[in-house]
Amino acid sequence: MRIFLDTADTSIIKKHFATGLIDGITTNPTLIKKSGRDPLEVYQELKDLGISDISMEVVGDADEMIKEGKGLYDTFGDCCTVKVPCTPDGLKVCRELTRDLIKVNVTLVFSPSQAILAAKAGAAYVSPFVGRVEDNSFDGPKLIQEIVNLYREHMVRTEVLAASLRDAHSVAKCYEYGADIVT
Ligand code: E4P
Repeated sequence: MRIFLDTADTSIIKKHFATGLIDGITTNPTLIKKSGRDPLEVYQELKDLGISDISMEVVGDADEMIKEGKGLYDTFGDCCTVKVPCTPDGLKVCRELTRDLIKVNVTLVFSPSQAILAAKAGAAYVSPFVGRVEDNSFDGPKLIQEIVNLYREHMVRTEVLAASLRDAHSVAKCYEYGADIVT
């Protein structure tokens, strides 16, 4: 039951990391923009704090994302998890980076079908968007349950990282249904 924080605000991260209960960080371009800081500076600060798993989202077409992802891994090493969208380009990037043993988090996942493709592309993590699914009147934690069952049935090693959470009740439900990580 790992807990990640979904923010690029290093003062919030420092405060909660000090509890010893936080296992990693997920960021995205919106969160980085909100922090008003250079992404590389934020990642370096998090690495210096001792955070061993930081999802760093890349943007652009497949070639641009591959270049950015490899660059991030070269700079930050094993604490870097490259985050890519679950699009045809994103899945291509996932496959390519995974071949180089770089961890990839496939994000923007809304269905078990997308989770299958992420697993096939070798993702370390798949990020189903529980809150946004709920925003659209569907059962978010149930999506986690479906993906977890599917992965267990087929002995898939990709871990399920429940994302876009809005409340503590859903966090508990996601763990109950087998999420490996909640952010
Ligand atoms: C996932 O890793 C995303 O960064 C995030 O959880 C999205 O959450 P939101 O739906 O609140 O934007």
